[in-house]
Amino acid sequence: MSKEPACKPVIIKVDIERPEKDKIRIAAEVIRNGGLVAFPTETVYGLGADAINPEAVASIFRAKNRPVDNPIIVHVADKEEVYKLTEDIPVMAEELMDFFWPGPLTLILKKSEIVPYVATGGLDTVAIRMPYHRISLDLISESGVPIAAPSANTAGKPSPTNAKHVIYDLGAKVDIVLDGGPTIIGVESTVLDMTYPTPKILRPGVITSEELMEFLGSIDMAEIEMKNETPTSPGMKHKHYAPNSDMIVVEGGDFKIIVRKVQELAYEHMNKGKKVGIMATSESPEYDADIVTIAGSRADLNTIARNLFEILRGFDDQRVDIILVEGVEKKGIGLAIMDRLERAASHRVIRV
Ligand code: TXA
Ligand code: MG
Repeated sequence: MSKEPACKPVIIKVDIERPEKDKIRIAAEVIRNGGLVAFPTETVYGLGADAINPEAVASIFRAKNRPVDNPIIVHVADKEEVYKLTEDIPVMAEELMDFFWPGPLTLILKKSEIVPYVATGGLDTVAIRMPYHRISLDLISESGVPIAAPSANTAGKPSPTNAKHVIYDLGAKVDIVLDGGPTIIGVESTVLDMTYPTPKILRPGVITSEELMEFLGSIDMAEIEMKNETPTSPGMKHKHYAPNSDMIVVEGGDFKIIVRKVQELAYEHMNKGKKVGIMATSESPEYDADIVTIAGSRADLNTIARNLFEILRGFDDQRVDIILVEGVEKKGIGLAIMDRLERAASHRVIRV
C-alpha cells in the first residue's frame, strides 16, 4: 500500500474560457516535477504526466491499473513539438494536422528517440494529438513539455466526462484535478494510424471517416480486427468502458422494432426479478422499466455522445442488474457511439 497524504488530490476549479494563469502555473509545476494532473480536454478528461519522463509516464499506468502494452496519447500545444517527437511525417499527416488541429484527431506516427517506450507500450510509433480545449492547451504550454494522457478513468471503466468521475475512479492517486466542468464532446478522439500506405482508423470519434475520406481519398477501418489476436491498436483487445452491470445493445434499421425488442427484454429481465435500466432517447415512447434515462436525441447524435459515459456510470450508482440500450445508426458520430456501446456491452448485441 502506498502512503498518500490525506489532502490529495487538490481540486482546482478553472474557468474554461479564460483559465486563470496562477492555477495553470501550479498544475504545470506538478507536471514538470513528475506528478500527475487530471485535466479536461474537449473529448474526455485526461490523466497527464510529462511524456518524456519515463518514471512519470509509468506512474500513469499504475494509477489507472492500465496494462503496460496499451500505449498512451501524447498531447502537444504546438505543431513544432511534433517534429521533435516523430520521424518521417507523411505529407498527408501534415495536411491533416493543419486542417483538424487543434481538435479531436489523434495521429499515429513513427516515434523519435526522445519518446520513451513506456509511453508507447514498446511500439516504435507514437500517438499524438493537439486538443482544442483552452485548459489543455494552456497546461501543455505552461508545462513546456508534451503531456502523455490517457483518459482519466480506472482501466476498463467508462471514460470520465467530468471531474467527479475522475475523483471517483482515481482519488488520491492524482496530485491535482483541474475541474473545468463537463467535457464538450463526450467520446474520445478519432485515432488514425498514418504509418500504413492507406491510413487506418483505429478508433472512431467525432471526426468521422466520411470527413477523413474527403481528405485522404481512401481509408481503412480497423473494426474487423477487433477480435483478432494481434489488433492494430493494443487498446482494442482490453476490456473497455464496462459498467458493473450486464448490458445489451439492440440495433437495427427500424426504430419501432428496436423499441419493441428493448421493452420485451426489459419485461423478460424484470420477470426474473432483475433491476432493469434502459438508455433511451427523446424519441422513445414511455418504457416500462425500473430506471429509464434519456441519453439525447436521435436527431442530433452529438447529444447522445456527450451523455453516454455519464449515463453508464449513473446506472452503476443505481445498482441496476442489466442495462438495455437502443442502438443508433452507425453513421457520422453514430459509429463512435456504437463502438463504445458495443465494447461496454462486451459485444452483447442483438440485431433486429
Ligand atoms: O480523446 C482522447 O483521445 C482522450 C483525451 C484525454 O485526449 N485520450 C484517450 O486516451 O482516449 P486513451 O489512452 O484512453 O486511448 C488511447 C487509444 C488506445 O486505444 C491506445 O491503444 C491507442 O489510442 N494508441 C495509443 N498509442 C498508439 C500507438 N502507438 N499505436 C496504436 N494505437 C495507439
Ligand atoms: Mg481510455
